[in-house]
Order: sequence, then structure tokens, then C-alpha cells
Amino acid sequence: MKLGLIGFPIGHSLSPWIHGRFLEKSDIAGEYESIQISPEDSFEEELERIKTEGINGFNVTVPYKTKIVPYLDGLDKNAAAIGAVNTVVYKDGQWIGYNTDGTGYVAALNSKFPSFSKDKSRKVLIIGAGGASRGIYYALVAEGFTRIDIANRTAESAHAIAAVDREGVQTDVLTLIEAENNLGEYDLVIQTTSVGMKPNVEGKVMSLQSIEEGCIASDIVYQPIQTAFLQEAQAKGAAIHYGHTMLLYQAQAAFELWTNKKVPIGNMDQQLKNILE
Ligand code: ATR
Repeated sequence: MKLGLIGFPIGHSLSPWIHGRFLEKSDIAGEYESIQISPEDSFEEELERIKTEGINGFNVTVPYKTKIVPYLDGLDKNAAAIGAVNTVVYKDGQWIGYNTDGTGYVAALNSKFPSFSKDKSRKVLIIGAGGASRGIYYALVAEGFTRIDIANRTAESAHAIAAVDREGVQTDVLTLIEAENNLGEYDLVIQTTSVGMKPNVEGKVMSLQSIEEGCIASDIVYQPIQTAFLQEAQAKGAAIHYGHTMLLYQAQAAFELWTNKKVPIGNMDQQLKNILE
């Protein structure tokens, strides 16, 4: 089986390690290759070349998640709604795009906090309104949560997410300051902006002074693994949910799309954490 990843830059991607372990654990002979497409290359030509080289499927990362859409033969419902693809599957002569980022996030949350999703009225705040936020919002709606607010620096992009078809879900759009002052209202706060990512590790999107014990603070940034956001949340007594788990579970879902095999995460969670620390 031939699998891979397209993006730029991808030299430090952890996906080859993750999928290499999945191939081993599932006893499938295969390879997962990083295929860097630089912005100077013709995206269309590179993609055509990859498609003709016998690949069974591939992941798509920054900056091609949206760009790839018109070059595919179809999108599954979730990817179409999000407008971005992180996984491509070659099936019955067609290249079909999927998006497992948001569903991966929710799977990771459920694996770490199995009882959280049992009460769908729990109040969730998503900080950020980019591609990752959109995917997570859809996945939380699909999971059945009914109260999901969005706070973003730029109100328009948060309103664009809140405008989607979401019957029975109440969503308020907040400024970062409003969110900062009202964190005590939430049971789960998800940080989806790029603030705090290496090399700007001191960065924090807001103060967490008003977060309460019992709240889950989740950061999708995993480099560093212990972000300033998570450190402050932990100091305030919140439970913390690390970003690398989303990476593992979106990969698990992608691997399942390619192979029909759901490989248990097992100790890969701790192994990946060790790699990142
Ligand atoms: P991704 O696909 O990873 O979600 P993205 O689409 O570029 O990335 O979205 C980045 C998010 O981080 C956005 O919500 C962005 O806020 P804006 O919509 O106002 O641009 C947020 N973000 C990035 N840098 C930020 C900063 N310094 N302060 C606050 N928010 C920031």
C-alpha cells in the first residue's frame, strides 16, 4: 500500500511516524511518504504526477487543504460542508476528499474524557475561527452538543461559522475580551488559534483568570506540547487536553478510510508526547 502526505513545508511532520506505526501494527506492507510541493511548483502538475504513481491515498496539510478541492472527483459530506480536505482516498477510479480533523478532535476528546460527551448540554467555547475551528465546530454539532460559542479576533469569520446549518444548536459570537471575562461559564474551552505555537511559545490568546476548576482546557497547538495556555489553565485547576491527541485521532480516521482498519492508539499517545517533549 502506498500512502503519503502533501504540503509545504513538511520536513518536520509527525504523520510519517504515526502512519508508519499504523502500518506496522495492522500488518500491512506499505509506505507513507512526505511529498513536499513547494509554492514555486505547479500544484496541478505535481498532483497529476502523484496520482499517476500508484498512490492509494494521501493526507493534505497546510497550505493545500482548500486548494486541492477543485482537483478532486468528489467530496464526502463533511469535507464539502467544511470546504477543506485533509485526507484523499482513491476508490473505484475516483479521488475523493474527506476531512477527519474535527472528527479526530472529538474522538480524542472522547478517549480522554469519556463521560464529557454524555451530557450534550455542556457548554463549549471555541477560540479561533480558522479552518481547524470550523472542522471542530461541525464535529461538535454532529456529536450532538447544543451550546457552542465562538470567540475570535475577527468577528466576521466567527459569524461565517455560526451561520452554518445547525438546527437546535445555540451559538453566540464573542470578542476575545468578552470570552476572557466569561470563561467560568464553560465546561470545555478549545484553543484553535496559532497563538503559542513554536517559536512564539510565550504567546497566549487571552488570560485564563476566569476559568474554573472542572472545566476542560484544550489546545490544538502541540508544539510545544505544554503551551502557555495549558500551563495557565492547569495552574487554575482546570483539566487539560493536549493537542497531539487530535493529530493521532485524525490520523487514525484517515488510516481507516484507506485500509478499513481502525488501529488502536494504545501507547502511541505517550510515545508521541515523548517525541514532542
Ligand atoms: P487553521 O487552519 O490552523 O485554523 P487559520 O485558518 O489560519 O489556521 O486560522 C488562524 C486562527 O488563529 C484565526 O482564528 C485567527 O484569527 P483571525 O481570524 O482574527 O485572523 C487566529 N489568530 C492568529 N493569530 C492571532 C493572534 N495573534 N491573536 C488572535 N488570534 C489569532
